[in-house]
Amino acid sequence: MRFKDNVAIVTGAASGMGLLAAECYAREGAKVVLTDIKREAVEAAAESIRRTGGEAVGIQVDVRVFDQVQNAAETALKCYGRIDILVNFAGGAEGRMLKCSAPFHEMPIDVIDWGLDVNLKGAVYFCRAVLGTMMKQKRGVIINLGSVTGIEGGGPGSVNYSAAKSGLIGLTKSMALCGAPYGVRSCCVSPGPVLTRTAMANMKTRLGRAAEPKEIIDLILYLSSDQAAFITGTNYVIDGGRSCGGMD
Ligand SMILES: NC(=O)c1ccc[n+]([C@@H]2O[C@H](COP(=O)([O-])OP(=O)(O)OC[C@H]3O[C@@H](n4cnc5c(N)ncnc54)[C@H](O)[C@@H]3O)[C@@H](O)[C@H]2O)c1
Repeated sequence: MRFKDNVAIVTGAASGMGLLAAECYAREGAKVVLTDIKREAVEAAAESIRRTGGEAVGIQVDVRVFDQVQNAAETALKCYGRIDILVNFAGGAEGRMLKCSAPFHEMPIDVIDWGLDVNLKGAVYFCRAVLGTMMKQKRGVIINLGSVTGIEGGGPGSVNYSAAKSGLIGLTKSMALCGAPYGVRSCCVSPGPVLTRTAMANMKTRLGRAAEPKEIIDLILYLSSDQAAFITGTNYVIDGGRSCGGMD
């Protein structure tokens, strides 16, 4: 019960790692605000947490729209009175998410915008919406989901994804600097391939496999808990050794 009496906002919580994190926070005592662009799925996820005895609310939020982001922060305060944790999961590689196979130099501008807006601007918006509350509380943790692609660079379908994920490392350091005098921490977690999709098994790592989602969530839970009270402003690569180099 590391998160008893804590309130956690999780973006991209309708599926994959965001959904698993929301379930894990709830299981460890947090009240969870699940947000995602997919309304039915995020409401169903919150309902499923409530059915198993947890406290959760699901809200449709497009992270590219600041009013919706602000509304999620206000809903957290209205329902639960505080915001202790924000985890920015919403994202994905633009080529895959928008089913666009054009290489970067021919990529439509709306696909480029999607890659930057969802992966970077959405996280900036959510930080903007919660930081003041965390500073007032003198307590809070922001976790941003980077990617090994933000360190290695991205292929033709994930140039903007890579740029955005690199940007999250800067955002994390800035949040750490802004938040430190107020007891607010921020960390970035940059995974290699994770089996939220079977195709990720094809991406090579030194350890010869992709991560189970729970392996990433365990690190995130640790970093957002009081056990990690002296950790802020740093990026955690969790990639089975992929970024050591020499992988094709
Ligand atoms: N799976 C991997 O191998 C891997 C590796 C490194 C980093 N990551 C990062 O981890 C995060 C979660 O990945 P996942 O594999 O669980 O993906 P996922 O596709 O299961 O989850 C992403 C969620 O973001 C939501 N989303 C998309 N656009 C949105 C928007 N505009 N507003 C709000 N929500 C929106 C989707 O609906 C989805 O529920 C992503 O940021 C991803 O880039 C994943």
